[in-house]
Amino acid sequence: MADPVKLTIDGREVHAAPGTLVIDAAKQNGIEVPAFCYYEGLTLQAACRMCLVEIEKTPKLQTACTVPVAEGMVVRTETAQVAQARKYMLEYLLTNHPLDCPVCDKGGECELQDMTFRYGVGESRFTEEKVHTPEKQFSPVVFFDAPRCILCYRCVRICDEGMGVKALGVINRGVVSEIAPNKGDHLECDECGACIDICPVGALTSGAYRYKTRPWEMTHVGTICTHCADGCKTTLGTRNDQIIRGNNRDRSGINGEFLCIKGRYGFDFYDHPERLQAPLVRKNGKLEEVSWSEALTTIASKFNEALQAGGSFGVIGSNHTTNEENFYLQKFARDVLKTNNIDHHRTGDVVTLLDALSGKQDKLATVADLYERKAVLIVGADLATEHPLLSFQIRANYRHHQAHVYVVTAEGVREDHYSAVSVRGRDYTSLRDKLKAEPELVILFDDSVKGEDVRKLVEFGESLGIPVKYIALVDYSNSRGAVDMGVTPELVPGYQPAQPGMHVHEMIDADLGVLWVVGANPLKKGGSRKAGFLVVQDMFLTETAQQADVVLPAASAYEKNGTVTNVTGEVQRLKRGINTMGAKPDLEIMGFIAREMGVAATLGPWVPETVFEQIRKTVRGYQVPLPVVATGGAAQTMPLNGRIPVENRPDLISSDHNGLFDSGTLGRYSKVLHSVLEGRLERQ
Ligand code: SF4
Ligand code: SF4
Ligand code: SF4
Ligand code: FES
Repeated sequence: MADPVKLTIDGREVHAAPGTLVIDAAKQNGIEVPAFCYYEGLTLQAACRMCLVEIEKTPKLQTACTVPVAEGMVVRTETAQVAQARKYMLEYLLTNHPLDCPVCDKGGECELQDMTFRYGVGESRFTEEKVHTPEKQFSPVVFFDAPRCILCYRCVRICDEGMGVKALGVINRGVVSEIAPNKGDHLECDECGACIDICPVGALTSGAYRYKTRPWEMTHVGTICTHCADGCKTTLGTRNDQIIRGNNRDRSGINGEFLCIKGRYGFDFYDHPERLQAPLVRKNGKLEEVSWSEALTTIASKFNEALQAGGSFGVIGSNHTTNEENFYLQKFARDVLKTNNIDHHRTGDVVTLLDALSGKQDKLATVADLYERKAVLIVGADLATEHPLLSFQIRANYRHHQAHVYVVTAEGVREDHYSAVSVRGRDYTSLRDKLKAEPELVILFDDSVKGEDVRKLVEFGESLGIPVKYIALVDYSNSRGAVDMGVTPELVPGYQPAQPGMHVHEMIDADLGVLWVVGANPLKKGGSRKAGFLVVQDMFLTETAQQADVVLPAASAYEKNGTVTNVTGEVQRLKRGINTMGAKPDLEIMGFIAREMGVAATLGPWVPETVFEQIRKTVRGYQVPLPVVATGGAAQTMPLNGRIPVENRPDLISSDHNGLFDSGTLGRYSKVLHSVLEGRLERQ
């Protein structure tokens, strides 16, 4: 690595790597240079001239966002001349601005407003009539108010470079230049909202958030998106037990600022009018609202009766509920109900991957690896729609580090636009020579590769003679955690073998005495319950809940504490953002059932932190550093490094292949996701 460059900024001697831009060198040393068009990670635009600084021995002010550091350079960022220049630039940027801060969504967190205060632009010498154009709605999510736009092109660049969508551009010239969508008067894009979040002013605003609140009226809670398995951190803006918005502007998670539409806007299912807020018990054939105590007593006495009579139990868990809930549920099933009939909907072959990798170290890739490693091989998945964060990471890796991307998919995918090689079909072996020449590789595969095919893929990877890491793609926010926590009939937590019980499909078809479904909808595609007594914990009256004897209203991921494990095995903390009246976290519900049955002591406290401590002590791979998780970081689990003695059952694995605008049963209840889909259908 080349020697650092020595320079002086505002009288301080600092060092920076050669090639560093002056604006970044200043920032690295705690000196903020104002900027509108410059944005870390995006190409340079040099459009706004807010970042002007004095550099000794150069005749004019220079843009700090375009000049790289040089040995001996002397930079001054806050002189009278600089302040005057910035003041003029602001006056110019405000020429046509409507100055409607009191009603603008961005008020209070607007970069233009902040700079105007800072540089004291109190009056304007422009007396011409302002150009007014009415606000436009580009899509259900994206609104555009042209007069507020300062033409910094951040939105255009994030959509092109960050998202790989290129849905925004600029039309016209001069004072009538305007940001425009890709389809004439509307957008057809990922609806990710990245352009809205990155806009330094209130020109792009969100259909979900606009005019609802002011930023300082909200409480900001960092938690994890509950939709796909990628595990994006999202900061919920909440007020009066309502979620008003989601973003991750502090870049604190594994996703940096990235969120797809589901993470940024798809939280809105939580206040859908059909949300359950009271327990239901079937009476005379109909589900009727009852008190919590009546519902819990009904369940506890039925469970105890069945236990005493030696009846059969089946338990179906979820790939959305927390690790703590999954751990407690399997313990409940095994230690209290004395059954290994416990399972969940499996969406990727994690088990065979771990088994195939036994005896090898450091073989599981993280989300960060997709940004850092030199080459990536994607087998089967359309990442841009099914795993938006992973797709974003690979795109950023390609842009910033020129990573080589290899694609083996049945259909064309977004990664084709920058792949080194794209192969249609499933045969990756033709890439052998090219992959062997790479210094390192990450292989991602979806459920089109399962059972023996996973072993063949690992054999292939290991035969390349280069360091290879793997990711078995799964669908939901805790799909991975459900397997790790032993919500399977043949494995207890930590992939230790158990005397196998029934699988999901077998439980549905069996004449079980009791079937207990926690956060799943196994009858979604039709069919009737066979079990004598059916208990369902859910947020909505799903197809399965409609057939239940007792339905208990469950809290969503945004209404509880705990942890989830993402697709790459990274554990992160869920933090309660709001409360919804009547609903309880599944862990609490299970604890109450245990207490009502008189078995609470067998299971221990139903407090998330205590259960997580138990998980850390007993589940191999989960001895993760507590401070990392407790402070909102991601800690990669290291599952066991040995053979997993289970029979391969690829038939039990099927991904839902959710796209950008759906998300299993949950997606049905999101107004935002619906409005996007309906808009597209109407236009077809
Ligand atoms: S919402 Fe996302 S995909 Fe659509 S225009 Fe904005 S940045 Fe591009
Ligand atoms: S809409 Fe916002 S982000 Fe886009 S160019 Fe205008 S000010 Fe910049
Ligand atoms: S990529 Fe997945 S985890 Fe991230 S915001 Fe989208 S749905 Fe949520
Ligand atoms: S930030 Fe440097 S010109 Fe805009």
